[in-house]
Amino acid sequence: MTSTSQPRFVVPKPSHGPVRMGAIVGSTWGWALLTVVLLCTALAPARADTDLPTKFSNIGTVGNTRHNLSQRQTSGGGPSGQTMDSFRNDYTEVCVYCHTPHGANRTTAAPLWNRTMKATTYQTYDLLATASLTQPVTQPGMNSLTCLSCHDGQTAVDSIINMPGSGRFLATQETSENAAFLNSWNNSRGPDATVHARMAPTECLACHSSGAGIVGAGATDFTLFAIGTDLRNDHPVGIRYPTTAGPGTDFKDPSRKEARLAWFDTNANSRADANEIRLYNTGDGYEVECASCHDPHGVSPSGAGGAFNATFLRVSNAGSGVCLTCHSK
Ligand code: HEC
Ligand code: HEC
Ligand code: HEC
Ligand code: HEC
Ligand code: HEC
Repeated sequence: MTSTSQPRFVVPKPSHGPVRMGAIVGSTWGWALLTVVLLCTALAPARADTDLPTKFSNIGTVGNTRHNLSQRQTSGGGPSGQTMDSFRNDYTEVCVYCHTPHGANRTTAAPLWNRTMKATTYQTYDLLATASLTQPVTQPGMNSLTCLSCHDGQTAVDSIINMPGSGRFLATQETSENAAFLNSWNNSRGPDATVHARMAPTECLACHSSGAGIVGAGATDFTLFAIGTDLRNDHPVGIRYPTTAGPGTDFKDPSRKEARLAWFDTNANSRADANEIRLYNTGDGYEVECASCHDPHGVSPSGAGGAFNATFLRVSNAGSGVCLTCHSK
């Protein structure tokens, strides 16, 4: 995790409690609130709502997962979404935070990608220099950069190129974030966003962390999800899969290999299904990337419907199923 610059915003209405102490202690309101919070803190052992189960059902569609950034569950129920309205545009659509049918990002080989992709240099796992690592590591490939465009805390979660409706496209959004453009969006279901928050300690995590979070309102602790730009404490990505794999080696052999993709074809249908772990070749050989283990849309076990595997995993990690797909251990 990397902590970024100074706080970029002050949460305007303290309807759920203080976010940044310094921002509110100046006012009478602030002092009253602070007293309440200190009291709550004294009574409750933990300061924030840590590790709450999600309000989304995690069934059927990405619209019923935490990747629905309108934050209103597609099939009813789920979170209210309102708490976020001041901090990200509510486009009222699900896919648009990541994809667009037209006007997609041309600087990136990701499917119809609608997000701003800033140039970022990451601290990669090999910098740790463990004695056991044998494979070359590059900067994260495209199938990790898509995820990191939200999870590294450098880009607002609502920073897209083509907002819904006509005339809401800005080409320079491909690589840089334009607040005036994003501010031109009016939320139809709640207050307009005055800030476009990133998954960073003083932004989304101002509420969603145990250190500075708010108590009792259901803002779960997302600290671990804000991966930052320091990847030394994450399973290596942009790392080549050993070319010698299979029986007698430390690695299993992906049964299917095509030019850009290799995968463990567990049902032998010759297609890379969502519930099959995969390796991406973007020019440096087959590599492990975020999307090797995760599918950002949610995956049902055995592709059979029902609740998605936890944390968008392609296969259940019960009994370390994810790890044992690649590692012979
Ligand atoms: C002012 C405090 C506050 C800020 C800032 C905030 N949230 Fe929240 N968030 C909450 C609260 C409170 C809830 C629970 C209430 C609800 O479900 O609507 C919540 C719920 C959520 C949920 C649903 C959790 C679940 O699985 O049930 C997600 C996802 C989420 N927020 C993401 C974000 C992101 C991303 C940002 C930054 C763009 C953000 N939040 C900024 C307070 C905040
Ligand atoms: C949170 C971001 C996010 C959201 C929301 C999202 N996607 Fe994706 N989608 C991705 C990423 C990342 C990939 C590339 C995965 C990879 O690297 O293989 C992708 C890939 C795809 C692909 C092509 C490959 C595949 O995995 O099937 C299709 C089709 C697709 N998405 C459709 C949709 C649709 C339709 C929606 C809305 C219902 C949606 N996505 C919502 C992030 C998202
Ligand atoms: C549009 C922004 C966005 C993109 C792109 C994105 N995520 Fe997320 N992701 C979120 C938000 C918001 C949450 C809710 C928690 C939080 O605030 O971190 C989340 C949560 C998660 C979680 C925890 C889910 C849970 O139910 O506990 C995982 C795992 C995850 N993302 C992985 C990925 C991976 C892997 C990719 C790329 C394939 C990706 N994300 C792309 C925004 C994004
Ligand atoms: C080798 C497989 C693998 C790769 C590669 C991988 N993850 Fe994960 N990820 C997992 C597993 C397994 C979990 C569940 C951990 C748990 O339940 O504690 C997880 C959990 C997460 C979570 C939830 C927070 C947590 O720690 O529980 C997020 C967010 C996440 N991954 C994002 C990413 C992103 C972004 C990338 C790329 C930079 C990535 N993952 C690469 C296997 C992987
Ligand atoms: C998609 C394939 C894949 C999956 C799935 C996977 N790994 Fe790996 N893992 C690799 C590769 C490739 C390396 C690099 C091996 C090397 O350099 O010799 C690696 C390296 C490692 C290392 C050694 C790091 C070092 O410093 O030497 C550990 C430990 C590890 N993985 C644990 C896990 C765990 C735990 C899981 C499950 C959560 C997992 N892996 C899932 C492919 C995978």
